Amino acid sequence: MKNLPLLFLGIFFCLAFSWTGLILSSEIQYGGLKPIALEEGETPQPQAIVGEAQQGRLIYIDQGCLYCHSQQVRRKGYGADWERGWGDRQTVPRDYILQPRVLLGTSRTGPDLMTIGQRQPSTEWHYLHLYNPDITSKGSIMPPFRYLFETREIGDAPSPDALIFPDDYAYERPPAGYEIVPTERARQLVAYLLSLKVDYELPESRFAE
Ligand code: HEC
Repeated sequence: MKNLPLLFLGIFFCLAFSWTGLILSSEIQYGGLKPIALEEGETPQPQAIVGEAQQGRLIYIDQGCLYCHSQQVRRKGYGADWERGWGDRQTVPRDYILQPRVLLGTSRTGPDLMTIGQRQPSTEWHYLHLYNPDITSKGSIMPPFRYLFETREIGDAPSPDALIFPDDYAYERPPAGYEIVPTERARQLVAYLLSLKVDYELPESRFAE
């Protein structure tokens, strides 16, 4: 092993090169980004999600929603995101700085969810869709997340958040005297979905006309 120093030098340069390229250069480009207000006196954006929605984010990761859904909007004229109504502007690195783990996603088996809280603000809609996507989106290939709900005996009165099935619901309904209600996980997940909004502008990304 007469070339041992050379070997170590080689390994050192390989590691140093990738560290500089992947970590240092990203840190220089994006490390200094902070929430920013367009006009003086406005609330700096983006804002961190809190409470139930923050818990729901973990369920989103846990349930693998990100394998089928992206959270990144391309600019108008660059792909069909704008035409599909997935957002009014492209998303930029600053939109993600307060997220502990960025959920950009790589696959779009389903629609992009970056602005789903604006596009579909109804809690009831999300419960029905998660329970059985076919109810709200006929022929949907999204898997049902029925285990995020529980069948419960109706007490004195039906629960306010019990699922109300449409008249033409073709699948099994709960037996008489029972109702289907979201579990805490479903409530948190939907709180997270409703928090997904890009309803503010940033200096580097304004709403497209
Ligand atoms: C196997 C792929 C797949 C997985 C996993 C998946 N989805 Fe979907 N999702 C889809 C498809 C396809 C659609 C479009 C049809 C529909 O609306 O059901 C969709 C639609 C949606 C919509 C409606 C979007 C719109 O623009 O109308 C929401 C909200 C949604 N999914 C949330 C979720 C959540 C939350 C999870 C995880 C609990 C999840 N999805 C997991 C494939 C998936």
